[in-house]
Amino acid sequence: MCGIFAYKGYQTNATELVFEGLKNLEYRGYDSWGIAWKKNQQIQVYKQVGKISEASSEPFAEQESTLAMSHSRWATHGAVTQNNAHPHFSSDQSIAVIHNGIIENYQEIRDRLGRSRFSTETDTEVIAELIAEYRKTMDFESAAKKACHEFEGRYAFIAMSQEDDMLIAARRGSPLILGVAAGEWFLASDIPAFLKHTREVNYLDDDQMVVIGEEARFIDLLSDMEIQKRTVTIDWTEEEAQKGDYDHFMLKEIMDQKETIMRAINQNEEEILKIAEYIKKARGVFLSGCGTAGKVCMASEYFFSIVANRHVNFAPASEFPIYHHFLIPESLLIVVSQSGETADVLEAMKVAKEKGAKVLSIVNVQGSSIARTSDFSLQINAGPEKAVASTKAATSQLSLLLLIAYAVAGRLEEGKKLLIETASMINDMLNPRFLKYIKEVADAINHSEHTYIIGKAANYPMALESAIKIQEVSYIHAEGFAAGELKHGPIALITPGTPCIALIAEDEVRQDILNSTMELKSRGAYIIGVSPNMHECFDHWIRVPDAGIASPIVNVIPIQLLAYHLSVLRGCNPDMPRNLAKSVTVK
Ligand code: F6R
Repeated sequence: MCGIFAYKGYQTNATELVFEGLKNLEYRGYDSWGIAWKKNQQIQVYKQVGKISEASSEPFAEQESTLAMSHSRWATHGAVTQNNAHPHFSSDQSIAVIHNGIIENYQEIRDRLGRSRFSTETDTEVIAELIAEYRKTMDFESAAKKACHEFEGRYAFIAMSQEDDMLIAARRGSPLILGVAAGEWFLASDIPAFLKHTREVNYLDDDQMVVIGEEARFIDLLSDMEIQKRTVTIDWTEEEAQKGDYDHFMLKEIMDQKETIMRAINQNEEEILKIAEYIKKARGVFLSGCGTAGKVCMASEYFFSIVANRHVNFAPASEFPIYHHFLIPESLLIVVSQSGETADVLEAMKVAKEKGAKVLSIVNVQGSSIARTSDFSLQINAGPEKAVASTKAATSQLSLLLLIAYAVAGRLEEGKKLLIETASMINDMLNPRFLKYIKEVADAINHSEHTYIIGKAANYPMALESAIKIQEVSYIHAEGFAAGELKHGPIALITPGTPCIALIAEDEVRQDILNSTMELKSRGAYIIGVSPNMHECFDHWIRVPDAGIASPIVNVIPIQLLAYHLSVLRGCNPDMPRNLAKSVTVK
């Protein structure tokens, strides 16, 4: 969802600084953007519809300012217009605000303050208006605190005041991180915004506020007391957050998989064994996540079943709350999330905790809300993932969950060996010849309007994941099926020439999925086989290494590449698919 980034310090080009930093958050929202800055005690605002990456910094070049804030929007309330873009002013122009989240009681606040005071369709405007209202009779900090007590819903907002040389920010449910350097403060919804300037951070928790004047002070909004926060040094580098020589982040992140599997399994063994013991003792283990992370969970059900002989239940996070009947204090919920901020996952965790159950999280973003509020947390260490479509995070999550399944089976070393071999095979697979071949396959199916993907066992969830990848970046209608389900309905969709992708492993179900593939071929389907071995029914053979039970990790990578090329061939932007945002912080 929306990206927010603000600066207060001694650099006099604050507007350009937030303009550049915001570009690094564009993956969070890209329908419109805006900047507010203070110059000669006046707040100035500039906003535009469109992508910040396509905008010029010219309007900010001459703006001497040491205090500025910026926002890239992913619309929730109100159409994509310049008027609805942030920052938003209070009606008397004394307060400007940027916001990520949803103020659920905004209609109520509008009614109370008088509808004529509002000029946009957004919920955000009430934040500025309410603070401005209270600021008439009290200082900026007290006004912001008082307003926060009235907001319902989720927010991370930053406010600037005409009268005060300060930034005030608060969070409940949406991410907000303070980057700190000597005499400088950077407030952002995600670290890449300020990685160039500092790696020292304070994570704000829910119901906390930070007031940045001469120094930064933290306030707990539940008690209104000042609190101390620990400064953490993050280990991402600026280089990792850039796309280097690649045309798109998506391609860069696919290629990062040459290394990321090794980073995912490079864990503290004692910690993994402790978690394995917990899983063994738990009475009821659930796996939950959204979208791609959800498909990773679903594949891991098979890993736990096949490797560790353990029954683990998967439910998408948005559906998980209905399972509350089955939760007891001895239950364990394992949540998987790249961003560590997904609202549905946080809600699933809340439901589990209310029943006294424990939560293990597997995240990529260090210090994220999900990581900080779980009982145990493991990081996949994939480095920043900026393309909206999740690629390297997914294979890292799969690798770590497979490793845990091996640990539960008491065969950690065997699992490690398999995954090290898999990492090395992926490194070999991603060679220029392989990349060229996938592009040729994309050329062959580029004009199709429908694609179907089949898989069996742990490759069935990967068929579902492959469909997500193709849909979201190329807008081709793609659907994944369990191979054996074809004959129960979906095969009616096949007409001569329909591209069908079969994800095949050298395992005990190989013959079954080959039979299903031949059934498709008999109806005229154009078959793309992703498999360690050739079969006569393939029109295209994408040769992948034989990774045994780790085959879902290997098989999904060529489909990520295929989706990428389909996107580019069809003139889409693979990094910023329409209607989607990288971090889904609304329910
Ligand atoms: C698809 C994709 C999404 C995310 C989902 C969960 O490529 O990226 O489906 O997987 O929104 O996000 P996280 O993993 O951040 O919880």
